Amino acid sequence: MVIHGGTRLEGELRVQGAKNSALPILAATVVTGETSVLKRCPRLRDTDAAIRILRHIGCEAAWVGRDVIVRSGDVRQWSVEESMMREMRSSIIFLGAILARFGRAEVSAPGGCDIGMRPIDLHLSALRDLGVQTQECSGRLLCTAPQGLRGATVTLPFPSVGATENILLCAVCAKGETTLYGAAREPEIVDLAAFLNGCGADIRGAGTDTVRVVPQETFRSLEYTVRPDRIMAATYMAAAAVTGGTLVLRDAAPERLLPVLPYFAQTGCVVQCVGEDIALHAPMRLRSGKLVRTMPYPGFPTDFQASAMVMACLSSGTGVFVETIFENRYKHVPELVRMGAQITVQNNVAVVEGVPQLHGAKVRAADLRGGAALVTAGLAARGETVVSCVRHIDRGCENFADNLAHLGANIHRTEE
Ligand code: EPZ
Repeated sequence: MVIHGGTRLEGELRVQGAKNSALPILAATVVTGETSVLKRCPRLRDTDAAIRILRHIGCEAAWVGRDVIVRSGDVRQWSVEESMMREMRSSIIFLGAILARFGRAEVSAPGGCDIGMRPIDLHLSALRDLGVQTQECSGRLLCTAPQGLRGATVTLPFPSVGATENILLCAVCAKGETTLYGAAREPEIVDLAAFLNGCGADIRGAGTDTVRVVPQETFRSLEYTVRPDRIMAATYMAAAAVTGGTLVLRDAAPERLLPVLPYFAQTGCVVQCVGEDIALHAPMRLRSGKLVRTMPYPGFPTDFQASAMVMACLSSGTGVFVETIFENRYKHVPELVRMGAQITVQNNVAVVEGVPQLHGAKVRAADLRGGAALVTAGLAARGETVVSCVRHIDRGCENFADNLAHLGANIHRTEE
């Protein structure tokens, strides 16, 4: 993406559907054996990868206009090829979905953004609680439930989003009730439970740390609209903020942005939420926000850390960031420094001294959110910024360059 910075963003945008809701829901369509219509499903590299997995295991899955239709009645394959597993982290949610459907599944380690180790030990130990036996052989993971999946009391020592999703998928098809303590509380868990409940499941307490699941034998077809992407909403707000712009986000589910709205207020932005819409007016120069410490929901989201850091780079003052979720999520820092940012990192703490202006540079996206943050920095920088490896951005940002151009940015895509 090539950006000529310095234009104030101004205008309205409808936020895309949430990637991190759509992906587990696409996996969940396998469980129902019925027809699922997903409206407002974001068209992304990762959702396309999920659709390829669905087809590989025998579902009919296709884009029809802006919707995805999945028919999972004829699923016959319980093994997912390594190349497909490697395409994204969410491929691991197919483990729970396929296990729920067949009582067995063969997968390999998932891929996804390179932001640290990202093990799956919590997924596996919870699945063992539900009666699953796991066996690793030559990089492949074979999971079977010889006596069928059985409901259980499961306690997660850390509220892992993916592990919570895998547990819910298995628990809805198990024999007997499951109670999950220490569940992740992210809105995307609420969305997965809403989809499954719409299909006939009985999941209570999603969005809290204790979730109860009463399994069901049959499911029904469902048309479901994916909720707005809270991280993309915040990302566009940051883009408007660093250009001193104004932005109205339509249908953006403001209540899901409560963990980040105080940060915008601290930096001097005026944010108004009216119904489902959010309006942001940025000051000429941002102020530095308070300490940002990433935490599980309802804490400050790690997925917004990079864009918030770009705001801090351009603010008057010093910003401090503590990344507690992923061990290697500062890959955008050296690239921002190339653009004139003043950031020092020690372990998981980044200290940002605000500068009046960044300058354009050739930079490289190493992961999705960091890549989006580099584009955001480019919007405010003097001169030309070229962000390469934008395939990472395409994992999660639908029509990013076009949407920013619609808001007045001077940005286009070109071949690498
Ligand atoms: C989900 O990842 C999101 N991905 C991530 O968004 C998000 O950053 C993360 O949740 C936290 O909110 C999707 O929903 C597809 P976790 P997930 O399991 O499920 C450790 C983006 O850019 N852990 O809650 O992988 C893990 O290593 C992506 O959209 C274990 O140690 O997150 C990490 O440090 C990036 N063992 C922490 O927990 C396990 O078995 C949080 O992971 C599982 C996780």
